[in-house]
Amino acid sequence: MKNIYSNILSFNKHCLLKIVKLLRKDTLVALPTETVYGLAGNAYSNSAVKKIYKLKKRPKINPLIIHYYSINDAKKDVKINQNFLKLYKNFSPGPLTYILKKKKKNKLSDLATSNLETVAIRFPNNSIIRSILKSINFPLAIPSANKSSHTSPVSALDVYDDFKKKIKIIINGGKCKIGLESTVVDLAGKLRILRPGLITAKEIEKVLRKKVTLNKKSKKILSPGSLKKHYSPGIPLKLNVRKAPKKYAFITLGKKYPVTKNSFNLSLNSDLNEAAKNLYSTLRKIKKLKYKKIYVVKIPKSKIGLAINDRLKRAAN
Ligand code: TXA
Ligand code: MG
Repeated sequence: MKNIYSNILSFNKHCLLKIVKLLRKDTLVALPTETVYGLAGNAYSNSAVKKIYKLKKRPKINPLIIHYYSINDAKKDVKINQNFLKLYKNFSPGPLTYILKKKKKNKLSDLATSNLETVAIRFPNNSIIRSILKSINFPLAIPSANKSSHTSPVSALDVYDDFKKKIKIIINGGKCKIGLESTVVDLAGKLRILRPGLITAKEIEKVLRKKVTLNKKSKKILSPGSLKKHYSPGIPLKLNVRKAPKKYAFITLGKKYPVTKNSFNLSLNSDLNEAAKNLYSTLRKIKKLKYKKIYVVKIPKSKIGLAINDRLKRAAN
């Protein structure tokens, strides 16, 4: 029998060599990170970056996050500042993305940064992606490995669902530890969070000893990808409800809700980190079960709960 998932591979030395070879030839690969799975290409190559936009059907005005192995690599392309150094020391490698100004002489593909003067950079914390980044001499442009506006993938099979054989290699690194995209913090303009994530404004304030604002709706596109319809499971969502009709999917949290055929519990212990990890896979599961509508209970807005609420709100748009 033919293995339909033949492009999903587990990671080993042989696979690493293969991936490095592909990336050098501007071919895209899908990789696990600690947040969500990403679609990776050489960030110094216009041809590789073009393929990312095309495959994802992503609008060209939505810039990508550039992933580096270390600060020394990043320094070649971006202007670093004190706030960055402090945060880097505390949170990198990890699920924090920094917006910084580009250096005049940088090697980044202009397409990857949508011709902006700023660039989003991140140092992912996952052993597979780190060993790949260590083996190449260019950074990787890596958006989440989903079609534009779809739900982000948290497993190799999720990536396969969106792209099938259109990606040469999808590395299977198991389910993502965090399950929601990185926090995006603006360090190039006014200090603010452009996209909430596991690392909160409060934690950043503690390190910087400065006020960090949460970006509320703004007319200007600050983080273009955080606009309107995003993370969409393709079904209407109704948020902050207490109960749901039997024919609709009901996303719950904690033990106080009845376990029924249509209920999907994000965490029986009301653990928000666990809920975050389960959110996207739950949305995908519900879609596959062909429910026509999703009802969601109120999720507390503390810690990563803020990010969960942010993604639910966008998914409901
Ligand atoms: O956790 C993550 O960050 C994942 C993994 C794969 O690393 N990546 C990810 O990438 O979520 P993506 O492309 O799905 O989201 C990138 C976000 C978008 O909202 C984009 O608009 C924003 O970062 N962004 C990129 N460059 C920017 C810039 N110069 N200024 C403001 N926002 C920027
Ligand atoms: Mg995305």
